[in-house]
Amino acid sequence: MDVLFRSQKGQAEILTATIIAQALRAEPDLVLGLATGRTMDGVYAQLVRWHQEIGLDFSRCWTFNLDEYIGLPPSHSGAFHRYMRDHLFQHVNLQPEHCQVPDGLAPDGALECQRYEDRIQAAGGIDLQLLGLGLTGHIGFNEPGSAFDSRTHEVRLAELTRQQNAEQFGGLASAVPLRAITMGLGTILEARRCLLLVTGADKAPILGQVLAGPVTPAVPGSVLRRHPHCTVIVDQAGSTGQ
Ligand code: GLP
Repeated sequence: MDVLFRSQKGQAEILTATIIAQALRAEPDLVLGLATGRTMDGVYAQLVRWHQEIGLDFSRCWTFNLDEYIGLPPSHSGAFHRYMRDHLFQHVNLQPEHCQVPDGLAPDGALECQRYEDRIQAAGGIDLQLLGLGLTGHIGFNEPGSAFDSRTHEVRLAELTRQQNAEQFGGLASAVPLRAITMGLGTILEARRCLLLVTGADKAPILGQVLAGPVTPAVPGSVLRRHPHCTVIVDQAGSTGQ
């Protein structure tokens, strides 16, 4: 696992976007795993800028998002579909049918999870998986206790996660859905490369556990230490807590 530190504000996001853009230029048919959350705002803003200013081309790229809340329509302001549309999809030349996000309204959740896995396989597997870190140590929505070999599945969200993500729900943790669909840790580990971006002082303690604590389902992100090609990008606050 490589850990790269960036001390100036915004530089961790730019480095992350640079790695994605380089991968896309090297392989226009890139299968890109995407993440949501405030951490990613600056990454997508930079990718959009490069698309608009220097023609970064997404026309042959496929994307698979990590997760989605169960029970929200794609247009809901808290839905990850909506986040992706607002931050990336509507601003670049991705083909809509190439942009995959789990369907949180699917009548049969288990079937949707299997279909999602099948779609990833049909695309040839994920080349580069972007990841953020939750305060519980989750990646995707794999909360503490998730099995390292889990596939795309339905989960119950931790209370801390609902509090962390309350901002998109009028500040009310109780308004955050209780359940979500997420790629499993096994699905994530099969990506050929993982890119974990962690910014902000509030993430420093859990990042310390991910990087230096035991590799354990109690800290799901720690499983990335078993990945053969994982890069962690951290800003000053994320690394020192200041
Ligand atoms: C959600 C997503 C995670 C993401 C996390 C971090 O919980 N499911 O994939 O890592 O948010 O959120 P933020 O970047 O807002 O701290």
